[in-house]
Amino acid sequence: LNSWVFMVTARAPTNIAVIKYWGKRDEKLILPINDSISVTLDPDHLSATTTVAVSPSFSSDRMWLNGKEVSLGGERYQNCLREIRSRGRDVVDEKSGTLIKKEDWQTLHLHIASHNNFPTAAGLASSAAGFACLVYALAKLMDIEERYAGELSAIARQGSGSACRSLYGGFVKWDMGKERDGSDSIAVQLATEEHWEELVILVAVVSSRQKETSSTTGMRESVETSELLHHRAQEVVPKRIVQMQEAIANHDFASFARITCVDSNQFHAVCLDASPPIFYMNDTSHRIINCIEKWNRFEGTPQVSYTFDAGPNAVICAPSRKVAGLLLQRLLYYFPPDSSKELSSYVIGDTSILG
Ligand code: PMV
Repeated sequence: LNSWVFMVTARAPTNIAVIKYWGKRDEKLILPINDSISVTLDPDHLSATTTVAVSPSFSSDRMWLNGKEVSLGGERYQNCLREIRSRGRDVVDEKSGTLIKKEDWQTLHLHIASHNNFPTAAGLASSAAGFACLVYALAKLMDIEERYAGELSAIARQGSGSACRSLYGGFVKWDMGKERDGSDSIAVQLATEEHWEELVILVAVVSSRQKETSSTTGMRESVETSELLHHRAQEVVPKRIVQMQEAIANHDFASFARITCVDSNQFHAVCLDASPPIFYMNDTSHRIINCIEKWNRFEGTPQVSYTFDAGPNAVICAPSRKVAGLLLQRLLYYFPPDSSKELSSYVIGDTSILG
């Protein structure tokens, strides 16, 4: 009888960069032109859950995302699957005594079902959680042990650059690395999720529309046409990485917030410096920045930080639940959810969606 199925389920959260990755030096291996630092979110809120299954009865590799079948034909999926399969080890099912030999991973087919616990259409980074989760689940299924720390992150990176950082919780740095094969372009945990537990992250969903320029295209155009991008990668980011690591180590919220905001703004300035310019933020994003900058200036010290990825949604960080509450009051005052369809607040930590 040839009807066994082995399955593994894993969950991985998304992460938000506070020092942005923007620009590749190698598009195929996804090697960046600068280091980046991110905060991994709580998996109860923005995360992907993925089940991977293997069975001799499967006749091809197939994948379903939120219940709909998607193609695995893309180069990024293929690269991740190839890298993972080549590291598979002998696996024995204790109960049935079934043995999968390491060479069998090359020929056995996989079924993959992945699900996001947040509105996929909300324009929130889902590829980071998705690829991190896929690589981790497959590594468990095939009993893969890392030959060096960060090896799995180097595989997830080939699915989506930012995915490498989602393999760890807390504060994570992605080292750009020097090697041509990308083996040292890996994620490293700077501090665990317990290190700075008081931090609260809010995501203000400004628009749930799909972005017009993908991060891949945006990065390529920025690398080719923006002088500011090269200045940023060579002169600015290395210093910020050191300062940000210090701010995290010392729970120094004022520095953390200041660097997060200026780095987000410089990333969007790079996009504006590309030719033709790329706009990821919209008027509402700019109004949120204004509102926070005014508040921070009025108080004389940063109350909260803001950062925007390749889209208009704001990710806001507060040093405590109390300040997060004050922020929410302000946002609801300036962007009343019932009178404006523009902004709804997806509140991390309270599991409520307002608006
Ligand atoms: O990994 P990608 O291709 O989704 O690119 C992510 C780019 C940013 O989100 C804008 C920055 C970052 O470091 O996550």
